[in-house]
Amino acid sequence: MAKIMAKKKILVTGGAGYIGSHACVELTQAGYEMVVVDNLSNSKTQSLVRVEQITGKPVTFYQADIRDKAALTDIFVKEAIDTVIHFAGLKAVGESCAKPQLYYHNNVYGTLVLTEVMAAAGVKQLVFSSSATVYGESTCPQYSEDFPLGPINPYGRSKTMIEDILRDLSRADAINQVQTPWKIALLRYFNPIGAHASGLIGEDPNGIPNNLMPYIAQVAVGKLKQVSVFGNDYPTPDGTGIRDYIHVVDLVKGHIKAIEILDSDAFAAGACKPYNLGTGRGYSVLEMIQAFERVTGRTVNYQIVGRRAGDLAECFANPDLAFKELGWKAEKNLDDMVADTWNWQSNNPQGYE
Ligand SMILES: NC(=O)c1ccc[n+]([C@@H]2O[C@H](COP(=O)([O-])OP(=O)(O)OC[C@H]3O[C@@H](n4cnc5c(N)ncnc54)[C@H](O)[C@@H]3O)[C@@H](O)[C@H]2O)c1
Repeated sequence: MAKIMAKKKILVTGGAGYIGSHACVELTQAGYEMVVVDNLSNSKTQSLVRVEQITGKPVTFYQADIRDKAALTDIFVKEAIDTVIHFAGLKAVGESCAKPQLYYHNNVYGTLVLTEVMAAAGVKQLVFSSSATVYGESTCPQYSEDFPLGPINPYGRSKTMIEDILRDLSRADAINQVQTPWKIALLRYFNPIGAHASGLIGEDPNGIPNNLMPYIAQVAVGKLKQVSVFGNDYPTPDGTGIRDYIHVVDLVKGHIKAIEILDSDAFAAGACKPYNLGTGRGYSVLEMIQAFERVTGRTVNYQIVGRRAGDLAECFANPDLAFKELGWKAEKNLDDMVADTWNWQSNNPQGYE
């Protein structure tokens, strides 16, 4: 007879943000109870109102900073949390170069406080939002988890430091022979894009978008004039940079697979393991612009400009490990990603405002 397991209560840090709000929808629809903590530094409560609209269920929300140990402890006292998905963090590469202390304080110190409070509460299952930016440059453009790390900016270094801290925590449990050791999945995202098919939630960047897809969408909707394509002389078929874009709904489904595995014997107690979440296929900047024009019927003005320092010619995921161990693979294709981005952008030209 199949064993019926009660669904767990998940704390989602950064749950009001782009990826976090999509995770809230999928977690609720998968039957999980969920608690969100967010300081709203890069999001609005409206995203959670929309999550409630999609799921028909209320969201338990705490407005707090993860660096506020007393506030976080209070949440763990009030709520019987089983697992944490840790999205809260600052993510703009350019800003991280200008304000490294802010990034290390928010991302690294924030994770230290979170893990201290978790350990004190006896909650030792954690899914962490890492990033492909942790990898160093490689001659092979398809990145596997065992490739050397070598981030080139403070944002990427904050993610690498957090990965190191989490690995050290797992090792310390073995030394200290604790009864309930950590179980940690480090999910290295490639380039999440797209939006929920309802068009009710999506990416709402503050100011000028840093990433290609929201930038293209804002040009198409008339908010920005044109896309700058940084370099068309890379050794790629059309000369522009190639990246692995993944639909945000596929991405958050990877988190649900991760919490299921962490909660099973298939994931060894005391393990801290990285998994790439990408499609395994890359598209060039020009291919993305063409796909956007084809799917939406809109014209996207663009201009070729010089290369940007630090940009690689080509980078895409080897997602085999996530398939083998989490039973996860991306299902949605480029047209889905574009159509859902446009559905969100055209219905919400000013984002959540
Ligand atoms: N979007 C991407 O391209 C991408 C790629 C790789 C990794 N990631 C990582 O995924 C995570 C989520 O990214 P996103 O795109 O949803 O970003 P986002 O900015 O939309 O969401 C992050 C959320 O965390 C909150 N937050 C930040 N610092 C906080 C703090 N100290 N306390 C409480 N809340 C805090 C913000 O208000 C925001 O709601 C981040 O950790 C990011 O680094 C994102």
